[in-house]
Amino acid sequence: MLRFAIVGCGHIAKKHAAGIEAIEHAKLVAVCDTDQQRINHFLKDGVKGYTRYQDLLADPTVDVVCICLPTGLHADFTIQAAEAGKHVIVEKPMALRLSDADEMIDACKKNGVKLAVVHPNRFRPAIKKLRSRIEAGAFGKIGHANATVRWNRNDAYFAQAPWRGTKAMDGGVLMNQAIHNMDLLLWMMGDAEEVTTYAATRIRKIETEDTSVSVIRFKNGALGVLEAAITLYPRNLEESLSIFGETGTAIIGGSTANWIKTWKFADLSDAEVEQDIQEVENDPFGIPGHQCIIQDMIDAILEGREPIVSGIEGRHVLQLVIACQQSAEKQRPIRLDVIE
Ligand SMILES: NC(=O)c1ccc[n+]([C@@H]2O[C@H](COP(=O)([O-])OP(=O)(O)OC[C@H]3O[C@@H](n4cnc5c(N)ncnc54)[C@H](O)[C@@H]3O)[C@@H](O)[C@H]2O)c1
Repeated sequence: MLRFAIVGCGHIAKKHAAGIEAIEHAKLVAVCDTDQQRINHFLKDGVKGYTRYQDLLADPTVDVVCICLPTGLHADFTIQAAEAGKHVIVEKPMALRLSDADEMIDACKKNGVKLAVVHPNRFRPAIKKLRSRIEAGAFGKIGHANATVRWNRNDAYFAQAPWRGTKAMDGGVLMNQAIHNMDLLLWMMGDAEEVTTYAATRIRKIETEDTSVSVIRFKNGALGVLEAAITLYPRNLEESLSIFGETGTAIIGGSTANWIKTWKFADLSDAEVEQDIQEVENDPFGIPGHQCIIQDMIDAILEGREPIVSGIEGRHVLQLVIACQQSAEKQRPIRLDVIE
């Protein structure tokens, strides 16, 4: 039985609590927030509430800390947890700077604790199928890939929490929303070499960008296009991930990228294609991604291995986000190997 604590009892904390509750060998034992009312929502079945993080870290019954705080606090809280000997599941993005990500990874390594970053979309059934087609080499040589995030985060969303939309605590549409899709692009396509990004704050009254388009060149020579916006009228429209190769075409899409829209492979018969599509249709959401990340942390601890979405993986996509931001700011292409 592994005992979990949640730090930051806001919106995403509920998914962590639900994930922990759904796992037989996991138990929520404590929560922490500076707001007592938010703590109160989680106090049941002997869960302890702390308003001071130091008190939670001193609690010997806590094995794993789930960090669900405004992004700008992730690094400091992760490092403190590692130094207290707690394993860490940190929400995405793991940090806003690569130097912070490095310090988080180092602190966890030095203290012999695991670090997982919450990129739950990797566990979607359609995305897992796409990844297994990539692993099987079913696309042949890949020409290009495309990711779109056409969502709506309206004024009410930004009014809910003052840290949202700020440079110091959040980052914009790339850092907060499209980072999920960028993680999937890297997972499917391999390392990126260079990016060119345009970004703008077109409609929302926020400090960071609400609209962004990027062109990516991957190390394998393939190209990628990323369109990301949180300005769609009147609500979320679609999210998609497409891969185009010499012997395969795949588009995963829908209002969220959970459904197979196009699935054509030289090595699959029509019946096999239909079977893949049907399997996803039967269970498009699968086991909730947060639950998968929590289960994977338990397995990683028991098996003495790294979590699937480790700190290194979280750093990997953070580097791509920062390269895109720098490209937009400097108005020129940016190579990833110069990002620190
Ligand atoms: N993986 C996903 O799909 C996903 C989805 C949404 C948000 N997130 C990430 O989760 C994180 C939190 O987002 P949210 O929308 O839940 O935020 P939120 O504003 O709803 O919740 C944050 C909570 O942290 C508390 N808090 C702030 N400072 C604190 C401190 N010093 N000590 C203790 N508690 C403190 C606040 O009182 C609040 O309850 C962000 O990094 C965000 O990017 C991830």
